[in-house]
Amino acid sequence: MKVKKAVIPAAGFGTRMLPASKSVPKEMLPIYDKPTLHHIVKEVVDSGITDILIIISKDKGSIEDYFDVNFELEYELNKKSSEISKEIHRLSELANIYTVRQKRKNGLGDAIRYAESFVENDPFAILLGDDIVYNSSDEKPCIKQMMDIYEKEECPILGVQKVNWDDVSKYGIVNGKQIQDRITEVQSLVEKPSRQEATTNLAILGRYIVTPDIFPILHDTKPGKNNEIQLTDALNKLASKRKMLAYDFIGKRYDVGNKLGFVKATVDFALNDPKIQDELLKFLREK
Ligand code: G1P
Repeated sequence: MKVKKAVIPAAGFGTRMLPASKSVPKEMLPIYDKPTLHHIVKEVVDSGITDILIIISKDKGSIEDYFDVNFELEYELNKKSSEISKEIHRLSELANIYTVRQKRKNGLGDAIRYAESFVENDPFAILLGDDIVYNSSDEKPCIKQMMDIYEKEECPILGVQKVNWDDVSKYGIVNGKQIQDRITEVQSLVEKPSRQEATTNLAILGRYIVTPDIFPILHDTKPGKNNEIQLTDALNKLASKRKMLAYDFIGKRYDVGNKLGFVKATVDFALNDPKIQDELLKFLREK
């Protein structure tokens, strides 16, 4: 079975990006010339998925506006350059974007519950807005790599990479047995363990393929770490019932939810633009 739907939770406060995220959703802060969310939606679309549910919250209306048509703007732009006008119009045609509002910020697990009627009985991809994965044009996008594994294995897949041991307390951590190059069979998961508690440094980096049997478990999941309903806790329960794989994906991942990661991503994406590459490099060397 193919994965045809994607869910992007974008309801959090973005505390680590304050004050920039006070009145602009953190998902709308630009990584070089596009909002973070645009990069994520592009990864989904480039992977062949066109039905996308974005889980938002109050004060995040600019996310809906961004992917909607803006006739007035297109009309005005068209007077100067039809190219820019077309580029802006293409945004509204990228995908079928649906939104739903999370009523209270009760954690990632709670946010995913809002996707149940959109997902129905299908497997679906989850992409978190704090994690941008860069893949060069000769690599498959990260979520596509995972979709391809799903097609063969038909079980939940977690996108992982090894992180510094000092950072394990920021992530969902995978315990399991490596069964192939890049693939680990998941035995258990723990959300944000301390350095001492963690038995591996294999971290879930914001990419998942999940099966709909997660929903009954999510409904029964009690608040965990930070008193929030954790997706990792529900996935841990699911892993005790069925096969689940962790896939060490190919690609450079940026944590754009913190200031340093955000700047690093912005610089790298800007350096990929031939129009400013040379001058930016010169500037960075001078620094
Ligand atoms: C969330 C998940 C965590 C995952 C991380 C990846 O945490 O709960 O398991 O490793 O995203 O970025 P958050 O960063 O939202 O606290």
